[in-house]
Amino acid sequence: MKAKLTRTATLNKFATIDSTAKEFFKTLLPVKERIANLLFVWQRRGMLVVFAATKGGVGKTTLAVHNAVWLYDRGFRVALLDVDDQFLSSDWVRKVEPEITVRQATTARQVVREVDDLLRTHDFVIGDGPQGKDEVTVALLLKADMVVVPLLASGLDLNSTIAVTTELIRAVRRKNRGRPKDVRLVVNGLDNRTRISRHIKATVKKLEIPAAKSMVRRLGAFVDAYIGDTVTVATRMKRQSKARGDINRLFNELLGSHLRKIKPKDKHRFEKYEKPRRAANE
Ligand SMILES: Nc1ncnc2c1ncn2[C@@H]1O[C@H](COP(=O)(O)OP(=O)(O)OP(=O)(O)O)[C@@H](O)[C@H]1O
Ligand SMILES: [Mg+2]
Repeated sequence: MKAKLTRTATLNKFATIDSTAKEFFKTLLPVKERIANLLFVWQRRGMLVVFAATKGGVGKTTLAVHNAVWLYDRGFRVALLDVDDQFLSSDWVRKVEPEITVRQATTARQVVREVDDLLRTHDFVIGDGPQGKDEVTVALLLKADMVVVPLLASGLDLNSTIAVTTELIRAVRRKNRGRPKDVRLVVNGLDNRTRISRHIKATVKKLEIPAAKSMVRRLGAFVDAYIGDTVTVATRMKRQSKARGDINRLFNELLGSHLRKIKPKDKHRFEKYEKPRRAANE
């Protein structure tokens, strides 16, 4: 209760961070709802994993959807919070797995409300963020237990992307008592034949924000997962052991220790997973 009160105070202070201050104040919940939140704080049981990046088209939606279905397939209660106004991940998840709760939010205030609500009844809430660093992204980051930042394996603006992301995370942590603690870069779209891939593997080893050891390759399975009416995820496709291997390795690395602490509702909905062949960064 005390921790939550302090966090709310920190949230208030956060409004001075930059020009988004005014907007952010508007997003704070009315007092009545905040009191209700405090009363229900002990009911928070889930973990919020946010996929965010200042850059667009890097794989936030693809990885968020795969993460949601991957967790569902392991028997957990999962919700997806789609915070990108294109609403692609909500559409994708609804088509793949109707049992996953899907909600949408377009303002920071809605984000706060939905996250608190969903965390009471789900083991994991997966947030698919918009590109950029507006107050909606900041609201998601403030609430996150873990932030996954996909980094596209392309050299064009690698350094600036890393710099902007690091600055944003630093700013949020300064105003939010060091939270979110767990922020991880994830290299996505890796092609081992390219020189840039080797360069990126070397670069991400020495950054302020640690990178996941597991990397995701550029694979047709991720694109083919969403075609017209046949919508699925790479981990549920037949003969896609590379994609399945990359996704298994990545989410086991990121979430393995958390999974062991939570008892799944339906133990292993899908018992069989093909053994992955080779890791992306081998
Ligand atoms: N590992 C991958 N291999 C091949 N294609 C990929 C991979 N990851 C993402 N893509 C493709 O890259 C494109 C952009 O991915 P996605 O929409 O997930 O990015 P995003 O960061 O959510 O973009 P936005 O900022 O527009 O929301 C999509 O066409 C997707 O299919
Ligand atoms: Mg997206």
